[in-house]
Amino acid sequence: MVISDPPARFTRRTFIGWWMASLLTATVVAGGAPILVFLWPAPPKGQKKGLIKVALDKPLDQLQSGDAIKFDAPKTPNSAFIMADGGGDNAAGDLAFGGFLVKDDSGKVNAFAINCSHLGCSVALNTDAKTFDCPCHGSRFHLDGSVLHGPAAYPLSHLTWQQESDPSTISVDGIVLGF
Ligand code: FES
Repeated sequence: MVISDPPARFTRRTFIGWWMASLLTATVVAGGAPILVFLWPAPPKGQKKGLIKVALDKPLDQLQSGDAIKFDAPKTPNSAFIMADGGGDNAAGDLAFGGFLVKDDSGKVNAFAINCSHLGCSVALNTDAKTFDCPCHGSRFHLDGSVLHGPAAYPLSHLTWQQESDPSTISVDGIVLGF
């Protein structure tokens, strides 16, 4: 003769146990969700990271060593470039709304964000001295982005970029902020 186990009884103790576990789970989810959203926010609607196409004023193949081309982030759609590195007021991931392409003596072309590493003003190309000068507090940078004169203590930030088949067009790492 087979004796089967008696059916499990759903006692008051079992009910209270399940109820407490459900309450605890709901509390953890309700309390933890805002923290997760704070730590990993969803990108605002309409924003999209990717390569931003930029039309240059001068074709890249006409850029001489020690010369620079200024370029701006497109306004339609409203876009910004993303800094690849940083120092001082700039940090990797920060946004820049302009930049410079510079060809060094070895023929290598670098792209720098326009933001001064002191407090973020836009630097300007000094064509006579071949430097980037900041109008706000007098910092100056060599064309390789390194500091020539303070108060800035850190070099200009690089932008990640690539040349397109058309020499007047480049693509720069950035973000479309909205339409
Ligand atoms: S922001 Fe450029 S020198 Fe201060």
